[in-house]
Amino acid sequence: MLQQLSAEELPKVEKEIIDFITNYTTHNELKKSMLYSIEAGGKRIRPLIVLATVRAFQKEITLPVYQTAGALEMIHTYSLIHDDLPAMDNDDLRRGQPTNHKVFGDALAILAGDGLLTSAFQLISETTLSATENVLLIQLLAKAAGIGGMVAGQAGDMTAEKRHVSLTELKTIHHGKTGALLTYAFVAGGILANQTEYVLERLEKLGAHIGLAFQIRDDLLDIVGTTEELGKQVGQDEKSEKSTYPALLGLEGAHQALTDELSQAEMIIQQLAETAEFQPQIFTELLTLFALEK
Ligand code: IPE
Ligand code: IPE
Ligand code: MG
Ligand code: MG
Ligand code: MG
Repeated sequence: MLQQLSAEELPKVEKEIIDFITNYTTHNELKKSMLYSIEAGGKRIRPLIVLATVRAFQKEITLPVYQTAGALEMIHTYSLIHDDLPAMDNDDLRRGQPTNHKVFGDALAILAGDGLLTSAFQLISETTLSATENVLLIQLLAKAAGIGGMVAGQAGDMTAEKRHVSLTELKTIHHGKTGALLTYAFVAGGILANQTEYVLERLEKLGAHIGLAFQIRDDLLDIVGTTEELGKQVGQDEKSEKSTYPALLGLEGAHQALTDELSQAEMIIQQLAETAEFQPQIFTELLTLFALEK
């Protein structure tokens, strides 16, 4: 089910992003730099969650869904370009290719990130949804990406290098840098599927658990994964003395924390299954993507 969704619907999200950038009359190198990071691929997990959520509530996937999912992936890609810069994580490899700044230089990489960030809001503002729904999706995206979400988490991540942080502080960082955009994916899917406040709250909670699980898994893979399979250099967190779950709790402790977050997520999926039109199967499949061994 998820496989089919991924194969049939994700290309339509990618088309929205690529057409938006390609059809723009803008600085040529800037355009190339933005397209470089988008076309490098990636797992597209955030747009997939948006699509899966709409589908789980048995709603049709329409153009505004592709546009919202595309906007989210643009913001995520911008966050990766900036995350890799020498002043941040200083990485050379991303999505199996040299990082954006390695190819286009720091200045253009910064601007490509800026371009993806601002274009995302333009793309999402151009849907045919009602003004109320549209403003809500834009507002929540701004909150998730901005100083109450991803950007704040990234600031926390940078200032937590080379020092001991408590588990509570680390959780806050992870909820921001990774959880906020992943939570948005679920909630936006719920809004696009016209769900009630109760359901949106459940989706928000689900996103928080999945977000934390995703970053714990990413931190574990930085230790136990390979550069080849991940398309990014492993062992970087230890090198920059990042505060991570494995650094704080050890491999086993981090693994247990991941399992715990996924069981909590599972419980919320069961609660959602009490909603008449919700089909849990696609979410159960989605959950397997966040486990370490797959
Ligand atoms: C990497 O995100 C950054 C984190 C939030 C851990 P992804 O693992 O989703 O990266 P891509 O999109 O697949 O490249
Ligand atoms: C990045 O976390 C989170 C964001 C880009 C917001 P990481 O720094 O752990 O991501 P990777 O490992 O470089 O993909
Ligand atoms: Mg980082
Ligand atoms: Mg990084
Ligand atoms: Mg990482």
